[in-house]
Amino acid sequence: MSDSTISVSASDELTVCREVHELKSCLNELRTNRKTAALVPTMGALHEGHLSLIEIAKEQADIVIVSIFVNPTQFGPNEDYETYPRQFDKDVEKCRDAGVDVVFSPDREEVYSDENFFQIKISTLNEHMCGGSRPGFFEGIVQVVNKLFNMVEPDVAVFGQKDIQQVQILRQMVREFNHGVKIVTAPIRRANDGLALSSRNTYLSDDERVTAPGLFRSLQYIETQIRSGVHTPKLLIRHQESELEAKGFEIDYLNVFALKTLSPVESLEKGQTYIIAGAAYLGKTRLIDNILIEL
Ligand code: PAJ
Repeated sequence: MSDSTISVSASDELTVCREVHELKSCLNELRTNRKTAALVPTMGALHEGHLSLIEIAKEQADIVIVSIFVNPTQFGPNEDYETYPRQFDKDVEKCRDAGVDVVFSPDREEVYSDENFFQIKISTLNEHMCGGSRPGFFEGIVQVVNKLFNMVEPDVAVFGQKDIQQVQILRQMVREFNHGVKIVTAPIRRANDGLALSSRNTYLSDDERVTAPGLFRSLQYIETQIRSGVHTPKLLIRHQESELEAKGFEIDYLNVFALKTLSPVESLEKGQTYIIAGAAYLGKTRLIDNILIEL
């Protein structure tokens, strides 16, 4: 079956909606008797990480909606919007198997009009980490998630710790704009060798795939050193950067950030929570990963 022929298929208990009006009427029908709804926003190419979010969503609410939309506004001009993996039919099957109630997969035109008169600006929370190297990235994410929240009106939304800066920015968005959506953070799902699962891992060559878990190992090494008493991690980080570069990584950032401000920290204090985070390229693939550490 081609993507465009799947519209509404209520018979097998998964409804696929392409348009907002379809989604609204479907949710109206499903959300009788004050049933609660949980949204899992995704860009598709679903893997075990996404499926773990769906499991959490099922525990959190009566109805689970998965959105599948490769959001153009969060890709930079030289990024992989065109080549981002798209496997809609497979994704729908995975959602069906996982017991999802509604898949919402709008076209670009359904989400964005030709002309926009409003712009989102984020203050400080996007200065470092991925925000520092991907201008406009989090503005695009806030724009689309804001829209998705208005389209779906969920009680709960589940996001992965894998994209920790995304979760923290969206939590703040919910607070500042009174969305009334409970944000739940799901732990990072990893392959057996430690590599964080990602839709972009399909870009890795066989050799790169063997090297890729090195990023997580470096984060773990930094974590171990911090836990054993290193409170000024600068040299330690520099050493891990060299190790990663020797393995063929091209580092975007590797540092320890304060969870609250998402800014890098020079010296760590007891009672605070930090993110040990890194982003690095292996060939053309950008990998990100992080570990949360509470001192
Ligand atoms: P996407 O990269 O498809 O990720 C969808 C959700 O899955 C995000 O909340 C992400 O953190 C989570 N996720 C990805 N890999 C994971 C892993 N290994 N373990 C656990 N969770 C994981 O993030 C986006 O899409 C987009 O920015 C989106 C929020 C949909 C807005 O367009």
